[in-house]
Amino acid sequence: MSPPHPGSFFAEESRTMSVNTPLTTRLTTALELTSPVVLAPMDLVSGGRLAAAVTRAGGLGMIGGGYGDRDWLIREFANAGQARVGCGFITWSLARQPRLLDVALDHNPVAIMLSFGDPAPFVDRIHTAGAKVICQIHSLDDARRALSAGADILVAQGGEAGGHGTATRSTFTLVPEIADLAAATAPGTLVLAAGGIADGRGLAAALMLGADGALIGTRLWASSEALVPGPAQRHALEATGDDTIRTSVYDLVRENPWPGHYTGRVLCNAFTARWHGHESRLVEALPDAQTTYRQAHAHHDLDNLNIIVGEAVGQVHDVTPAAELLHTITNQAHRLLTV
Ligand SMILES: Cc1cc2nc3c(=O)[nH]c(=O)nc-3n(C[C@H](O)[C@H](O)[C@H](O)COP(=O)(O)O)c2cc1C
Repeated sequence: MSPPHPGSFFAEESRTMSVNTPLTTRLTTALELTSPVVLAPMDLVSGGRLAAAVTRAGGLGMIGGGYGDRDWLIREFANAGQARVGCGFITWSLARQPRLLDVALDHNPVAIMLSFGDPAPFVDRIHTAGAKVICQIHSLDDARRALSAGADILVAQGGEAGGHGTATRSTFTLVPEIADLAAATAPGTLVLAAGGIADGRGLAAALMLGADGALIGTRLWASSEALVPGPAQRHALEATGDDTIRTSVYDLVRENPWPGHYTGRVLCNAFTARWHGHESRLVEALPDAQTTYRQAHAHHDLDNLNIIVGEAVGQVHDVTPAAELLHTITNQAHRLLTV
């Protein structure tokens, strides 16, 4: 890992922390981990290599099944090798092709994470296969629905998170409310915090707020193993949290039928500047905008590309191997929690 960012909270700490000091929580005990960090199942970004690297470093790697692509899933489970990993799906999209769940379950995942939709239709199949059910939620109502469906782990995601979610709640207030709800109504259910956690401070804070661990996306998006084009990663290193926005413009241009209350947090660029707030004009100009978007993908055109990161991007200053990130984050949190 490169030296800490000048002036950063951890600037005085040693550069490499290659050995993980175990940090024990209910999550690490339940899943036999040494770090209470779970890789977010980032669609097409969290491939098998990244998931395996997180698992080998003591956390839990999750393959990003996202909208669902059978061949991609099979390939990325193969890339994870023998590592114990899980897999996540976008629930409303999985409901359109439910057999994809079998593809994942055939690989004996540790857990299946369901986000953005009703988990109930899938829970029994997942439990029967011996995997844990993780449900990402954004509100108390979401949490109650996931608990009554039989979730083993809730991920309380605040609006600072990268990718899709809702804008209504922040991690700092959502996590303790969800931890209290789970403790009162389903004490065996574990809670993970998600949104804005990028270093040991964030992990320690999540645990202090009552979570059993953290689900981390943006920080691991900027890891060597993430399936992200190098130019996009390097570009994001320059950004602060102020440079992100919650928007629907990329869903509109991709014609992804997201339910209305979800938006996606992405890096601001020329595309968001042009279309955010002008969505009906975007719909009218869709063919041209789609051409721009397709070309942006083909040519890594950062002005128009969909660069999905959360506010935590402002805490990311290097692209680092995932194992090093896990060890550093875990050791920093361990130190902060034991002083
Ligand atoms: C690039 C990217 C893609 C994501 N894709 C998904 C996804 O397919 N399914 C999902 O449940 N969450 C997805 N998320 C959200 C994460 O699960 C998680 O809630 C979020 O990354 C946590 O906040 P952070 O980015 O601040 O760490 C994505 C996040 C990012 C950054």
